[in-house]
Amino acid sequence: MRVLIVYAHPNPASFNHAMLEYCQRGLVAAGHEVRVKDLYTENFDPVLRASDLASLQTSVIPEKIAQEQEALLWAEGLVFIYPLWWYGRPAILKGWFDHILTNGVAFAYSAEGPIGLLQHKKALVLITAGSDKSFFQANDSETLIHRPMTDGTLSFCGIKNIQYEIFYNVPTLPLEEREKILQQITRLGENFDA
Ligand SMILES: Cc1cc2nc3c(=O)[nH]c(=O)nc-3n(C[C@H](O)[C@H](O)[C@H](O)COP(=O)(O)O)c2cc1C
Repeated sequence: MRVLIVYAHPNPASFNHAMLEYCQRGLVAAGHEVRVKDLYTENFDPVLRASDLASLQTSVIPEKIAQEQEALLWAEGLVFIYPLWWYGRPAILKGWFDHILTNGVAFAYSAEGPIGLLQHKKALVLITAGSDKSFFQANDSETLIHRPMTDGTLSFCGIKNIQYEIFYNVPTLPLEEREKILQQITRLGENFDA
């Protein structure tokens, strides 16, 4: 499969970056063709400007957006790797979606309501969190960690096969636990189309 990894973390020494490396390794070992979209390294500007929005409303896709959509539509599979920031995606990743998931490319409105247009065979979402799982359970907020992404974005745009994994307590995890997660992520890459 052609797989696009979309990665959103500013620190190349972070655990998220290690996750990126291991996931990419697993995917490549399984024979997938992999592209990485490292949003911070690319210095992606996440702010959807008034001029961009105005162009989109006249069905003209600005060059900046067309380039990003080329990467999205090249892929048959998608992987997202990012930390949970205030119960959400880092703004740079949220902004990437604001730009590329345009009406007519990612979804369309029909008489029956919105329909998803993306044809990707699979999306894998890997999220790290600073808090313990019990914190989210106590607040009845576990699903808030992933649903804006899995349901509100990917499923809305038509992707049916969505897998997500959440890794808790990341800042305080001992080394052995970190290594176990990285091995798990390698296997997720190796078994991406299983
Ligand atoms: C701006 C910011 C917001 C954060 N918000 C949350 C949050 O809402 N919930 C949570 O569990 N952790 C939160 N964290 C902690 C990060 O999720 C955690 O440090 C990260 O996942 C660890 O991975 P890393 O070492 O690769 O950065 C936040 C961290 C930052 C910097």
